[in-house]
Amino acid sequence: MTPRSRIIGTGFYVPEKVVTNFDLEKLMDTSDQWIRERTGIVERRFVEPGVGTSDLALEASKNALKNAGTAAEELDFIILATLSPDYCFPGSACLLQTKLGLKKIGALDVRTQCTGFIYALSIADQYIKTGMYNKILVVGAEVHSNALEMSTRGRDISVLFGDGAGAVVVEADESGNGGILSTHLHADGKYARELMGEHPGSIRHPRVTPEMLDSGELNAYMNGRAVFKHAVVRFCEAIEEALKTNNVDIQSVRLIIPHQANVRITEAVAQRFGLTLERVYSNIHKYGNTTAASIPIALAEAVAEGKVKQGDNIVLVAFGSGFTWASALIKW
Ligand code: COA
Repeated sequence: MTPRSRIIGTGFYVPEKVVTNFDLEKLMDTSDQWIRERTGIVERRFVEPGVGTSDLALEASKNALKNAGTAAEELDFIILATLSPDYCFPGSACLLQTKLGLKKIGALDVRTQCTGFIYALSIADQYIKTGMYNKILVVGAEVHSNALEMSTRGRDISVLFGDGAGAVVVEADESGNGGILSTHLHADGKYARELMGEHPGSIRHPRVTPEMLDSGELNAYMNGRAVFKHAVVRFCEAIEEALKTNNVDIQSVRLIIPHQANVRITEAVAQRFGLTLERVYSNIHKYGNTTAASIPIALAEAVAEGKVKQGDNIVLVAFGSGFTWASALIKW
């Protein structure tokens, strides 16, 4: 019998420093009202200087391992999704591996931005179904704060993002009682320029110039309206694909856990499926958009709050830079 992948532990970690919309008002021409009304964000967490993505990943991983009752030494593989690795290279998964006190197991970074966690979970699922690995740590972690320009020039991006990490431990399960039922991964690279961090990249010679700093070119670029429009459509498509593949009705889904990009996107998805907001998880008011970390943070919170119980169907769904979009249907 082919084993299924079961999530046996969840955990998250966010830095202690809370940055409110009112704090941002002091740094740029923005307002609590604008940010709240357009995005649902009230505050976010920022790391202290010197704390990197792998540090947040470590804390979230320790919490997930504890929740799973698993020792780090039992892991066979690590997958870490991030768009903000500690260094250009090596990958942050390698740094996490050594911080966990491990020496040999493989460690892979995934670079699909806001859908990174679902891509990473899907990779873990394939390794488990083929029998290659038994226990895999899957993490989403980001440090955005030191890449945000805290001025009016950077406000369209800087008010949206926060730092944090979430993790799950995935294990092979032959009981036949649920687990990850399916994952669905998509991309359309023709929209790459609608949401991108262009520098430092290999296409430019030299990769970085002093002018890039002055001009603001080192900041991420986002066409907010285009992203919003595509996100709503792709979120709904990806949810429908997961339901159809498994012949599951939306009414049998206990909770949808969407990537936390904007509360208005979450509300549009709930409305499209005729769901009350209790069935579509949202914590963006506390953390902002934490990219690859947002789904595992939300999942860990939902589990801790008792909103996901054994036997429940849950759908994870994400959309982001690439464009990429993805979903997963899990029987808990
Ligand atoms: N504070 C105050 N005003 C701001 C602002 C800020 N932080 N950022 C932009 N503005 C201004 C704009 O300059 C614009 O001014 P103008 O009308 O004088 O030109 C006005 O607010 C409206 O900007 P606009 O970009 O049209 O707002 P919007 O309603 O589209 O909301 C987003 C902007 C970014 C919140 C919204 O487009 C969005 O959430 N998009 C999706 C983002 C996303 O999901 N990204 C992550 C990918 S997963």
